[in-house]
Amino acid sequence: MTLAYPEHLNNLLLERADAIAVLTLNRPKVLNALNTETLDELRRTILALKHDETVRAVILTGAGEKAFAAGADINELAVQSPSGGRDHAIRGQHVLDLIEQMGKPVIAAINGYALGGGCELAMACTLRLAADTAKLGQPEINLGIVPGYAGTQRLARLVGRGRALEVLLTGEAIDAQEAYRLGLVNRVVPAAELMAEARTLAATLAAKAPIAVRYIIDAVNKGLQMPFAEAQVYEATLFGLIASTEDMREGTRAFLEKRKAAFKGK
Ligand code: COA
Repeated sequence: MTLAYPEHLNNLLLERADAIAVLTLNRPKVLNALNTETLDELRRTILALKHDETVRAVILTGAGEKAFAAGADINELAVQSPSGGRDHAIRGQHVLDLIEQMGKPVIAAINGYALGGGCELAMACTLRLAADTAKLGQPEINLGIVPGYAGTQRLARLVGRGRALEVLLTGEAIDAQEAYRLGLVNRVVPAAELMAEARTLAATLAAKAPIAVRYIIDAVNKGLQMPFAEAQVYEATLFGLIASTEDMREGTRAFLEKRKAAFKGK
């Protein structure tokens, strides 16, 4: 199944080449703040990327040198009603869930501030590379609000309860090295090398067997939401299912024939 890409994007840039898509949040004047239109464009683009078989890995980054995304758009937050706020959070959570469940690796290339919704967005990605100049955090507490795009949940799962509560309750921005120490980002690289590093990692992942990649992402994410025994059964089912793929035969045969496997996603 394929799904058409949005014909026009006001707040995102999309570039596709060699199985890798680069999706750039493009509102640099407001540090790529996530307003409703941007989130909706993300939703539609992510769905199209998910269903595009030629795309095997995605890089998500921010335009400009300062920010990945400095959070939800505070202009919208400032005027929201209780029911509007609930709807807003559910809409944002849905978009981030789509990223987490895209079934392809999504690499957040964190090129600057990733605050509030920006940090939540990065946490929904499969892996996070941070420029050494990046700053991450959940400053909602300083606005008198709470995170709404599942930040309280993903942060606690990523870095543990105690560390998550410290980040969430102090609202302080932490630098890339500290984020690495906490386990919030996978790697820290010099800012000038961030995109090259992200592309190299994306190319490495794009060359893996796509169905196995999808199952691993799914097993980790869904398994974490299940009791351990059920999660093991789920893993075993995927382990059995993968035996139906041509790529499984290709991967094992290539090893025995001492050559590099050529995976087709079948
Ligand atoms: N929503 C809307 N606009 C935002 C924004 C957001 N989350 N973050 C930054 N902007 C806007 C600023 O209002 C400013 O607009 P202006 O030029 O019209 O005044 C522009 O982006 C540049 O930001 P500025 O604050 O001048 O940059 P800075 O380098 O001095 O500070 C930050 C950078 C990230 C520390 C600061 O912008 C900030 O604290 N942003 C809010 C972060 C936040 O609380 N996010 C969570 C939201 S739930």
